Amino acid sequence: MQRKNQYLEKAAVRLSRIKAHHHVLELGFGPGIGLSAAYKLVKEGEGKIYGVDHSSYVLKHAFTSFRKEIREGKVELYRSDVINLPFADNTFDRVFHCNCFYFWADLEGVAKEIHRVMKPNSLMVTTLSLSSLQQSKTQGHLPGTNTDVLNYMVALENASFSNVYIEYLKYKDIPYQAIFAEADKKLVDK
Ligand SMILES: C[S@@+](CC[C@H](N)C(=O)[O-])C[C@H]1O[C@@H](n2cnc3c(N)ncnc32)[C@H](O)[C@@H]1O
Repeated sequence: MQRKNQYLEKAAVRLSRIKAHHHVLELGFGPGIGLSAAYKLVKEGEGKIYGVDHSSYVLKHAFTSFRKEIREGKVELYRSDVINLPFADNTFDRVFHCNCFYFWADLEGVAKEIHRVMKPNSLMVTTLSLSSLQQSKTQGHLPGTNTDVLNYMVALENASFSNVYIEYLKYKDIPYQAIFAEADKKLVDK
């Protein structure tokens, strides 16, 4: 999975337009490809990379592979469910995730929680491959998951994200999709 998803993780980081001073959160970071790519963009600046995943296996692996970056104070990793993020309101300039939202049972609840931790005028980028997703679904690999992109985008809008849109892109000759959402207004009623 790690090799297959590399281009999606790297695309999410590139499309996030991360600056060296940004505080950046990756949700469901898995093997850590996106965390590494994002770290390179902030390592010389004031920025910092944060990661959340609910799997203890993923965290165990990541604490080893990011030992140096964690010691430097440039990476922080948390074992947590996305429905309850261990961060204060208005913390992040950028949030990205890749191949993740299908697993979130309460899409709107998670969308509100992500919106809560994003700063005003911040950006979230989601990358995915609709064709791989469809293939996995057909082969029965994603039972009980929520793979409808439209549901995800509507959940973002209901959680007060604005300018929610999807782009159809290509990596070499491989088609993939990116969903953008801005947190330019903050929820009054949380
Ligand atoms: C399909 S993997 C994708 C990993 C990586 N982003 C990639 O594309 O290679 C989904 C990741 O999301 C994590 N995950 C799934 N549901 C989650 C939840 N509710 N809260 C936090 N992490 C979750 C899983 O543990 C897993 O690491």
